[in-house]
Amino acid sequence: MKVTVVGAGAVGASCAEYIAIKDFASEVVLLDIKEGYAEGKAMDLMQTASLNSFDTKITGVTNDYSKTAGSHIAVITSGIPRKPGMTREELIGINAGIVKTVSANLVKESPNVILIVVSNPMDTMTYLVHKTTDLPKNRIIGMGGALDSARFKYRLAEAMEAPISDIDGMVIGGHSDKGMVPLTSHATRNSVRVSEFLSEERLEQVSADTKVGGATLTGLLGTSAWYAPGAAVSGLVQAIACDQKKMFPCSTYLEGEYGLNDICIGVPVILGKDGIERIVDVPLSDAEKAKMQESAAGVSKTNGLLEL
Ligand code: 2OP
Repeated sequence: MKVTVVGAGAVGASCAEYIAIKDFASEVVLLDIKEGYAEGKAMDLMQTASLNSFDTKITGVTNDYSKTAGSHIAVITSGIPRKPGMTREELIGINAGIVKTVSANLVKESPNVILIVVSNPMDTMTYLVHKTTDLPKNRIIGMGGALDSARFKYRLAEAMEAPISDIDGMVIGGHSDKGMVPLTSHATRNSVRVSEFLSEERLEQVSADTKVGGATLTGLLGTSAWYAPGAAVSGLVQAIACDQKKMFPCSTYLEGEYGLNDICIGVPVILGKDGIERIVDVPLSDAEKAKMQESAAGVSKTNGLLEL
């Protein structure tokens, strides 16, 4: 199983490291445009192989897409990260051109590839890939909801002073500070609804903290987060590579599902060997439906900035 990660920055390198440590892929190709950078990251990571007990071979390349040929899965993390105070949407001007070029190069070398888009604004970048490549929609996946759900579970566990392993919860909608829809009505602590443990006000605060989870870290770090984004996308890669049939909220192209058309936005999907195997229609409260429509309006507005 060959996986390519484009962008050897913090997110891409973390993703490559988590994939290697999980040891389900034979090879990870890490590609960057900066001379020697991916080679250095790959060599440093390979020098952890004996320490972290993995046999996955990580190879670094500088802008040579021929080395990505035959990839089953490719992750696009390239582009600029946001700075404190920026929204993800403000990155579109630079990142759209990068993602368009990168996805075209990947598909040329691996026509059967499954693409996972991480670059921001992620929902719009995922939509861009749909509009500029001829890949079928099941093989274009946007990673945002898996990360947002991890942050949701973190905040729920914090609020209930519970172990994370007891918590289940999902965030759908756009991967944006205002567009996320944490499904508090579905979240549980070991099968018990979290509303049995937390007041409505506290749950509102958990949702609010979840939605700005990325911005909070950017404020602390001076740049976008990387550990949780890298770990989240490595989970999607593993679900596809190992045909796990796991359910994740992923940005996918909708044609009527959730009452939405011609948009990529986070909804629950089943991931397996063919990428998105199906979209799961989760019952939403009226309030959650309204938030989803509002979120979609925001994503569509950002999509309108693309020069397709
Ligand atoms: C985040 O939320 C980078 O969009 C990513 O951290």
